Amino acid sequence: MKRWIIAGLSVLALAMPAAADVPAIEFAKAERPSKGVFVLPVGKGGELEGLSKEADRAAKGAIAEAITMASFKGAMGQTLTLYGVGPFSAVLLVGTGEGLKSATDLQTYGGTVGRGTSAWKANVNVVVPDAADVAQDAAIAAQGAMLGAYDFGKWRATAKPAAEPTVTLTFLAPDANAARRAWESDARAVTEGVFFARDLISTPSNIKSPAWFADQVVEMFQGVPNVTVTVLDEAQIEALGMGALYGTGQGSARPPRLVAVEYKGGAASEAPIAFVGKGITFDTGGISIKPSANMWRMRMDMAGAAASAGAILTLAKRNAKVNAVAVLPLAENMPDGNAIRPGDVLTSMSGKTIEIINTDAEGRLVLADGLWWAQETYKPKLAVTIATLTGAVGGALGSDYAGLFTRDDALADRFLAAADASGEALWRLPVHPNTFSALKSDVADVKNMGDGAPGASFGAAFVMEWAKKETPFVHLDIAAMAWQNSGNAVDPKGAVGYGVRLFDELARDYEAK
Ligand code: BES
Ligand code: MN
Ligand code: ZN
Repeated sequence: MKRWIIAGLSVLALAMPAAADVPAIEFAKAERPSKGVFVLPVGKGGELEGLSKEADRAAKGAIAEAITMASFKGAMGQTLTLYGVGPFSAVLLVGTGEGLKSATDLQTYGGTVGRGTSAWKANVNVVVPDAADVAQDAAIAAQGAMLGAYDFGKWRATAKPAAEPTVTLTFLAPDANAARRAWESDARAVTEGVFFARDLISTPSNIKSPAWFADQVVEMFQGVPNVTVTVLDEAQIEALGMGALYGTGQGSARPPRLVAVEYKGGAASEAPIAFVGKGITFDTGGISIKPSANMWRMRMDMAGAAASAGAILTLAKRNAKVNAVAVLPLAENMPDGNAIRPGDVLTSMSGKTIEIINTDAEGRLVLADGLWWAQETYKPKLAVTIATLTGAVGGALGSDYAGLFTRDDALADRFLAAADASGEALWRLPVHPNTFSALKSDVADVKNMGDGAPGASFGAAFVMEWAKKETPFVHLDIAAMAWQNSGNAVDPKGAVGYGVRLFDELARDYEAK
């Protein structure tokens, strides 16, 4: 197992995401339950159907009796654990409510199964509700179980990760081979991309410098077919004229990087999709320093970059028939004798100049150069910026949706469809002409903060200034989605990896066309 030593602590290397905490995943042919450990889906009102009903029969009605006695109503995600019932040593009942109608429902089912069985040292047979394609459903439920089991408990001196998973979740489907294929060719690749993103996001910023982030990406993609990683250091960034990225990082002792992860799964001649992810490895606000409360959470300010890299990992692992590139402008926003000041003017790579009103509006600066470089280098058929850009987006949409901004209605619909399919919710927000007007600066081409303009839309308007006319462009503000304060069955408390599942679905849409 790869390990590195920091401050006397030996910790799991990043490339080994919580290996021991996640269940082993298997698939088997669905047969009538007779003995062992089972998870049974229970419909609304405590109704038993299919294999759940057969299991109850094997237990001589004891399961139905328990459901009545416990007033178990089978609401989505509700659970009831029974031990030693009939021929079964343990049974976990999981509510499916009105039925598992979407990928999100199936993942929630799987996540609930994973959590409800995590303490069992057993092979757990998981019944997947009857449906049109149980094999596919089983793979998606397995994905939910894996995602929900994620735990970044790497930093406790007392943590003793087991070498092997203790729980095996065996998902039952009439065609177990088809289920295994769906898992191995697709769903598992999604969990790998999300785990990579979550590991990057969770890592404390004393370790997570721009150079460290770049190294992790290089290491993760070593030997992954059809992927090329390019890393530009601070001298190259400066030489290319990326004054916005360079300026953002100049207050830190740990200089900026620009990383590109290029995946070629489509035709050689085809232009790629470019994901440009904000990669602020820590955001103090700089000289416009943030208040101390909750500043610790700003180690997640590179979640857009993490999602972009994670999405490429998923695409590569599932051999997606697309060309895509993640462009990661990485910098640390620190206050220092060498830091940029409010009132400074930076020249971006495109030549456009920026008046700095607030050094805490730094994400848009690194995106400006990242987006420009991506267009110059790859001439993408679609460019997407994804960023923990503004607190304001959370004020508008809470933690229920990420904000979507684009001038292109058809593209907006495409993203909204991918959001529905992936369960990573999006809501479109406007950029009014007044908001573009608010970019005007007295001394430079634009300024990085508007007086009174709506915050999330202003950030989007700013970034749009660097999208070329010929580039179809979408901006996503994920500031309130990247970190779960409470957690749910599929996304535990902490880093979500928001964007990986969305980008995977989006790529599927492009593959289909
Ligand atoms: N990284 C923050 C945005 C953020 C806030 C992310 C809360 C996650 C949770 C960003 O760099 C920032 O500081 N934005 C400022 C912009 C303002 C100075 C124009 C903000 O939202 O206050
Ligand atoms: Mn900031
Ligand atoms: Zn920031």
